Amino acid sequence: MAEPLKLGVLISGSGSNLQSIIDHIEKGALNAIIKVVISNNHHALGLTRAQKHGLPVVVLKHEDFRTREDLDTELIRILKSNEIDLVVLAGFMRILTPAVLKAFPHKIINIHPALLPSFPGIHSQKNAFEYGVKFSGCTVHFIDEGVDTGPIIIQSVVPVFQDDTEETLAARILKEEHQIYPRAIQFFAEGKIKITGRKVQIKDAKEISLIALHNPSLAGF
Ligand code: GRF
Repeated sequence: MAEPLKLGVLISGSGSNLQSIIDHIEKGALNAIIKVVISNNHHALGLTRAQKHGLPVVVLKHEDFRTREDLDTELIRILKSNEIDLVVLAGFMRILTPAVLKAFPHKIINIHPALLPSFPGIHSQKNAFEYGVKFSGCTVHFIDEGVDTGPIIIQSVVPVFQDDTEETLAARILKEEHQIYPRAIQFFAEGKIKITGRKVQIKDAKEISLIALHNPSLAGF
């Protein structure tokens, strides 16, 4: 088996996506190792989750740095010193400065709780719910200079039911996030991701309709 992919996971809050990545690694479904978990919030529940699994954690607080650039210089130093292959943003509530993107070109990914390019930014589940869409979902994408605008790696679709609330919809989306994020990372671990402009192709994907898109009707939702 190939060397495990070295991950740096950046969080700000609950860390349920971090937990799902940990669980997939521990059950052997994801060939990766989490070298460091970094949070900009020292109250983040995700830090406790990481520590429970013996993972190294670092807190980078805004107030300890003069500028955003200074904080990101330290962030880059930590990621580089851990020889990180892939930077995984998992509920990290901060925009990275261009220096980080330059230090890790096409090596920073994010999960977003909507079907991009619809509903970028914050409160996506609420915005989708209030808009009245019939389907929503989640997206794993590369980070570029924009907000939630980078090339899309994998998406998952969920239906919006008539009796849904913002909360029930968000919970349905989160459940899918926990499936597609480890899956997207495993594509990296297997060297299967090819980017051409905005387009991401998954090499050797046999059932592309099932792999690149979780369609609820196909999945027997
Ligand atoms: C998720 O909904 C993710 O899509 C968004 O932030 C939330 C993080 O949740 N970027 P968690 O901290 O992984 O539980």
